[in-house]
Amino acid sequence: MSKAGKKKSVSPKTKEKKQVAQAPEEAVAKEMPTQAQGTAVEKETETPAQAPETGKKTGAQPDASKTSPKNTQERDQIFQERMSRHHDELRWLYMELYQNDSMFAELCENMHQFYLSRSQELKMRDTSRETDKGWYKQNDMLGMMLYIDNFAGDMKGVESKLDYMEQCNVNYVHLMPFLETTEGRSDGGYAVSDFRKVQEKLGTMEDLESLASACHKKNINVCMDFVMNHTSEDHEWAKKARQGDGEYMSRYFFFANEEQPAEYEKTVPQVFPTTAPGNFTWLPDIGHFVMTTFYPYQWDLNYRNPRVFNEMMYNFLYLANQGMDIIRIDAVPYIWKELGTPCRNLPQVHTIVRMMRIISEIVCPAVLLLGEVVMEPEKVVPYFGTVEKPECHMLYNVTTMATTWHTVATGEVKLLKKQLDIVNGLPKDYTFLNYLRCHDDIGWGLDFGTLMLDGIGERSHKQYLNDYFQGYVWGSSSRGELYNADPVTGDARFCGTTASMCGIEKAGFEQDAQGMERAIRLDLMLHAYMFMQSGIPVLYSGDEIGQVNDYTYKENPNKAADSRYIHRGAMNWELAANVSDSSTVEGKIFQGLKHLEEIRKSEKVFVSTADTWTIETWDPSILCIGRYYEGEKVIGLFNFSGEDKTAWINETDGDYVDLVSGTEMKAAGVGIPAYGYYYLKKKS
Ligand code: GLC
Repeated sequence: MSKAGKKKSVSPKTKEKKQVAQAPEEAVAKEMPTQAQGTAVEKETETPAQAPETGKKTGAQPDASKTSPKNTQERDQIFQERMSRHHDELRWLYMELYQNDSMFAELCENMHQFYLSRSQELKMRDTSRETDKGWYKQNDMLGMMLYIDNFAGDMKGVESKLDYMEQCNVNYVHLMPFLETTEGRSDGGYAVSDFRKVQEKLGTMEDLESLASACHKKNINVCMDFVMNHTSEDHEWAKKARQGDGEYMSRYFFFANEEQPAEYEKTVPQVFPTTAPGNFTWLPDIGHFVMTTFYPYQWDLNYRNPRVFNEMMYNFLYLANQGMDIIRIDAVPYIWKELGTPCRNLPQVHTIVRMMRIISEIVCPAVLLLGEVVMEPEKVVPYFGTVEKPECHMLYNVTTMATTWHTVATGEVKLLKKQLDIVNGLPKDYTFLNYLRCHDDIGWGLDFGTLMLDGIGERSHKQYLNDYFQGYVWGSSSRGELYNADPVTGDARFCGTTASMCGIEKAGFEQDAQGMERAIRLDLMLHAYMFMQSGIPVLYSGDEIGQVNDYTYKENPNKAADSRYIHRGAMNWELAANVSDSSTVEGKIFQGLKHLEEIRKSEKVFVSTADTWTIETWDPSILCIGRYYEGEKVIGLFNFSGEDKTAWINETDGDYVDLVSGTEMKAAGVGIPAYGYYYLKKKS
C-alpha cells in the first residue's frame, strides 16, 4: 500500500507536528468562517479581491488603462447578467458541497475580479462565442497536441512555427503541460508545483500570452491542461503541509496510521500498478501517509475543503485569462474521494464540473472544457451533463480509439461497428475528441462482454493485442512497448507512435519498400476513418510526418521507467523538411493527410452535428460509415485488412464520386484494395 517503503519511527519533532495535523477535518472547519453573509452579487464591488494563495491581487492585474469608466460599467452589466442567470444554481451546488456562505461570497468576488482583469480581446471572444455557441462543432476544426520543448524548444519557438501549423490545417493546438514542475518528479509535467508559473526552460507567462494571441491572429485555438486532481509535492501547499501546518494538511489527505489507507485500498484500483503501486505514500519525516493516486510525488487534493476548490478555481480563471480557448481538465473522475468507494466518478465530481462550467460561462464563456475521462462509455457520457445543465463541452472518444487498434490487430470490424453505433446513437450535441494516438498509453478498455459472446476472453485477448503490437504475431509489422504490465492481473497497456504501430518503423529499418507502402496506406486509412467520425479530430504531433518510436528515453534516468516516453520523442525537423516531396515517407503521409483535411473542411457533411451511421458491408474487414447533412451524403469505406476486398453495400439512391481520387463510382459491390479507403459522395 505504501509507495515509499517501510514505515520508520517518528522523531519527537514530527510527533509534535503530527498532533497539529491529527484532525484535518477540524482544521478545515476552523478555517472556514460560518457566519451567513449577504449574497455574493451584492458584495462584489466592495473590496478588491486578494489572491489568498499569494496575498497579492488575484490573477492578472486588472489593467485600468484598458477600461474606461463607462466601459467598466457596461462590462459590469455583462458580468451581472451572466451572474444572475447562473447564481442560484451555482449557489445551490456550492452549498450542497460546502455549506459555507462566506467562501461562496469570496468565490463570487474573485470571479468578478477575474472578469475585470480579462483583456478586451478575450472579452470580445467571449461575446462572439456566446452568440455562436456551436463555433467548435464546424468541419474545419482540426487539433494537434504537442510538447513545447519537443516541438520547438520553447514557447517562442512554437510561436515561430505557426506557419507550419497552418500548413497542417491545424486550428487548435494543445500545448502539453508547461507549468512549473520538478525535473525527474514531473510525470511529463502532470505534477504542477506552481499553477501561475511557466517552466523556465519553456518561457514565461508573458510568452504564453504572446503565443496565445499570435495563435488567435491565425485563428488557432489554444488548449492547455489543468491538472486539478493533485499538486506536486513541491507545490507551496504541499511544502507547508509537510511542515505540519494543519491548514495545508487539510488541503490533501493525510493519515497518521495505515488503518484508513488500508480501508481505501480495499476498494480503490491502482493507476500505475507497476511504476507506482498503491494509492498512498508514507512520509517518514512527518510520520503520515498522504494519498497519491498517481505517482508518489503527486499529492491528491482534498476537494472537500472549499479552500481547495476556490483556490483551484482562481488558478483556472487565471490561466483562462492568459488566452486559453480550451482547458483540459486532467484526471477529472478522480477528484472526489469517499471511503468504501472506488474514488472515481462520484456524484460530487459532477457537482464540481458543473460548477466549473458555470464559473467559466460567467467569467470566460469563450473557454471550452475538455474532460479527460479515460473510461468506458457509460462513465464518460455523464460528463457531458444534460442539455439544461451541461458539464464538459468535449470528451475524449477513448473506447473508439482503443477499439480502432483492436480492429487493426484482428482485421475484424464487428466490435468497432458496434462501438460506433453506440457513439452515433448519442445526442448530436455531444462533441467527441477523436484521436488515434496521444501522449498516454493505450489501455485495452474494450467491450469484453461483447467479445466474450464470440469466445474471446479478456485476459487472452489483451495478451494477443500486446503481442501483436510488439510485433510478435505473424503478420504484424507493429513496433512498441508494454506499459505498466501488472504481474498479478496479467494486465498491460501499450505504447508506440501511430507510424510505428502501422509498420513504418519496421519497414524503414528493414528497407522494405513494399512493406513501407502498405504501412503508409494503413496509416492514411486510419486517419481517413478518424476524420469520418463526428467531433474534432486531433493529431498527435509527429504523426503528420509518420514519426516513429524514440528509444532514447531509456538513457534518461528521469524517463527510463516510463515507456510512454517512447512516443514522446522530439519533432524531427529534418524529416519535416520533406513534406512537399511526395517521393518520401514524410511527403506521402503529409500530402495524404492534407488532402483528407481539405476534403473534410470543404464538405459540410463533416460537421459534428451531421447524421452518422454505420452500414453492413458483409465483409468482416470493411467498415462503412455514412454521413448526411442538409441534403448531402457521404459514405466512407475502410478496409482494415491487408488484402483486397469487396464491400457488399448497395446504396441505390444515385451515382457517387470518390472525393479522395475524384473517380465516379457506384456505391454497390465496391472493391477496395488492402488498407484502402474511399469517401463516396452522392452526386446531386
Ligand atoms: C492524465 C494524463 C497522464 C498523467 C495523469 C496524472 O491521465 O494524461 O499523462 O499521468 O493524468 O496526472
